[in-house]
Amino acid sequence: MFDPRDPSFLEDPYPAFAALRAEGDVHLHEGLGLAVAVSHAASSAVLRHRGLGRIWQDAQPLERFASFNLLHRNSLLENEPPAHTRLRRLIAGAFGRGHVQRLRPMVATLAAGMVDDLAAAIAADGSADLLAHLAQPLPVAVIAELLGVPGTDGPRMVQLSNAIVKMYEYGLSEEGRDTAEEAAAEFVSYVRSVAAARASAPGSPGDDIISDLLRSELTPDELVATAVLLLMAGHEATVNVLGNGITALLTHRDQWERLLATPSLLDSCVEELIRFDAPLQLFERTATEDVTIAGYVVSRGQKIGALLGAAARDPKVFDEPDRLDIGRTPNAHLGFGLGIHYCVGAPLARVEIAAALSALTAKLPGLKLAETPRRRPEFVIRGLRELRVTA
Ligand code: HEM
Repeated sequence: MFDPRDPSFLEDPYPAFAALRAEGDVHLHEGLGLAVAVSHAASSAVLRHRGLGRIWQDAQPLERFASFNLLHRNSLLENEPPAHTRLRRLIAGAFGRGHVQRLRPMVATLAAGMVDDLAAAIAADGSADLLAHLAQPLPVAVIAELLGVPGTDGPRMVQLSNAIVKMYEYGLSEEGRDTAEEAAAEFVSYVRSVAAARASAPGSPGDDIISDLLRSELTPDELVATAVLLLMAGHEATVNVLGNGITALLTHRDQWERLLATPSLLDSCVEELIRFDAPLQLFERTATEDVTIAGYVVSRGQKIGALLGAAARDPKVFDEPDRLDIGRTPNAHLGFGLGIHYCVGAPLARVEIAAALSALTAKLPGLKLAETPRRRPEFVIRGLRELRVTA
């Protein structure tokens, strides 16, 4: 069974997933303390089954994790109906396809400006970090704009968010857990003060999402949890699709050249990058009744995880799954999940990734890796520390 902290597994987890898949759809992972679904069919079943839910359990002891628990206990991602339905309805409109399509020009302008900066940094220094210049700041700037928080707070929000999401990894140190709680406390007070200022400013609330939430029937804790969830989810995965995906394109040069030659493949390229090296590898569910997935019984109270990265390479669904093919259609990846928790931000993420790729191919067609990218040591959120490129 794979070890989620083993550097060689993290470097390339896909052979280990393929070996497991060859032996069966679902396996008990003793180390993680849960079953894992490794086929596309079993992962889909886990995400859709109504007897499997996101059942939040507070981090313990409660006094030590007050803010971390507040953010999660009140979040739509950690709730099931009816609370989930009520919370999700409030934000669904703002992230709907039609609304997001209107953001295209704004996102394209931001991406173009960031790629100009990247090009200038490469010209000045010979190489530059694509994560720091584009993949990280683009989704942060967009989600900050949508929520109506100052873009200049973006870098701090990224630090807080990165510290909080470490709690989703397996085997985090006690120090890491304290850092996550401190970050959660700072994020809670930050959003409370933004909301208070918005509520009392003349002529407001305005037309941003925090203003929408202020006008809704949310409790103060639900408002904070919803805003923080959006600010975090709004960039944690997108940055890694861009980092992992652009690395994949530059190391499969024929596919980069194909995108340059055929810009109409942009949309299918976005889907393929999400499939090929999944930024989010594992989502857990808890059984609220005895549930059978691909013949494996998950007893009430037990957990099972959908391994999205493994599902994404299932040969029963994807022809030659280990091949990067930016024209792949259909492409039924599970990268945005399935069922009631299906990613609210999927249309926005697609627009952001497409805008970044368009700006890069237009301005830096000779883009190349300057060195082998360095991975972050985490398993659940799969990404790079740095992506130095040159042109
Ligand atoms: C390519 C980038 C992204 C990927 C791969 C991604 C992936 C996912 C996945 C797999 C889930 C489902 C989790 C589960 O079933 O347990 C999810 C949920 C969610 N995502 Fe995304 N996401 C991305 C970008 C975004 C963006 C830009 C936003 C900004 C609004 C966002 C907001 C959310 C929210 C609020 C949920 C919770 C939905 C619910 O519980 O009903 N995501 N995302």
